[in-house]
Amino acid sequence: MKLLVTGGAGFIGSAFVRLLVGSPDPPRIVNLDKLTYAGNLENLQGVAEGAHYRFVHGDICDAALVDALVTDEKPDAIVHFAAESHVDRSIFSPSPAFETNLRGTFTLLEAARAHQVPRFVHISTDEVYGSLEPPLEADETFPLNPSSPYSASKAGSDLLARSYFTTYRVPVVITRASNNYGPCQFPEKLLPLMISNALEGQPLPVYGDGQQVRDWLYVEDHCRAIRAVLGKGREGEIYNIGGSRSLPNLEVVQKIVAATGAAESLIRYVEDRPGHDRRYALSSAKIMRETGWTPLTSFEDGLARTIDWYRRNAVWVERVKSGEYRSYYARNYDNRESELRGTGGARRVPKP
Ligand code: NAD
Ligand code: DAU
Repeated sequence: MKLLVTGGAGFIGSAFVRLLVGSPDPPRIVNLDKLTYAGNLENLQGVAEGAHYRFVHGDICDAALVDALVTDEKPDAIVHFAAESHVDRSIFSPSPAFETNLRGTFTLLEAARAHQVPRFVHISTDEVYGSLEPPLEADETFPLNPSSPYSASKAGSDLLARSYFTTYRVPVVITRASNNYGPCQFPEKLLPLMISNALEGQPLPVYGDGQQVRDWLYVEDHCRAIRAVLGKGREGEIYNIGGSRSLPNLEVVQKIVAATGAAESLIRYVEDRPGHDRRYALSSAKIMRETGWTPLTSFEDGLARTIDWYRRNAVWVERVKSGEYRSYYARNYDNRESELRGTGGARRVPKP
């Protein structure tokens, strides 16, 4: 088995590569990654170049490169993780999300069509369903209602992938997962940001009232689900992947405070994210029924393992938090508290 994995130096892609490379009968993996701010080859330490693994530094929007790779490698499947994955960044500057998430997905689908790649697993997200009032839960037939430039670009790429199945019979399978957490996650997302700030005694910025609800999925559970869908998912089908653990953000932050021993006074309520989705909720009944997959890691165990990883990898965190991260952090968080006071809660969207 040969796989072309995109975005395999990122958080989830690298966990997927590590899972497969460490499995008893590993496939050959070609990892195509542009190494944006979010791509980090340190996530793949211990994964050696050789018969089972090759890294290619490149852009999924580069049609000539993608075509040549698919021609040379003749993959049995493309597993497509690469994306601009952060909602706040997509609000500041939507353009990279549209380029990579839409044009990049289009480029890969075209190569899969031209070379008749036997399987295309498109990694989508539960954010495409938008915000759901309780007690609603989205199953795979639920309408798409994305709110942010990020989720709109993911909904667009998800629909494009489906259209390639419907129109050209490209054997596409789509996964839509909930919020992931675990080792090697870039500290712009809620859990790694709060964990690393708590360990450093830095403020913990909670958007709005902190009562937004997310469903938390440990990254290894997600990767096992993708492996199950790669093997057993039916062509043209969509599979939701949830962690079966919904929590309000504030409760998550309080658990991090308790587990790290940080001071509760570090929690700061800051101005809300524009267009902030209040609640995501999804049913994973279909993937459980069809593949036998189920999440194995409780939120408490996964959180303890994640905090432990961030404690033991202070050098990784320090490197990642230097450079570009600092300007991103200042742009997203500086003045957020004062803006909240000044505007009564309606956040101005800063210029890129
Ligand atoms: P990430 O931001 O950690 O990693 C993205 C990777 O893609 C990086 O290695 C980056 O270098 C690479 N990349 C970006 N643009 C590229 C381009 N043009 N060409 C080649 N490589 C490029 O993202 P993640 O959190 O690991 O998410 C992976 C996928 O899973 C994304 O498609 C995301 O939408 C989806 N997803 C994420 C979550 C989550 O909670 N993180 C949940 C559901 C779905
Ligand atoms: O649901 C799946 C999605 O989960 C993925 O598709 C995205 O790639 C991934 O980034 C994630 O999106 P969210 O916007 O839900 O994740 P994020 O970690 O950015 O935020 C989680 C919640 O925490 C959200 O309600 C916003 C809030 N938040 C986030 C940050 C970074 C805060 O309150 N403070 C913060 O500083």
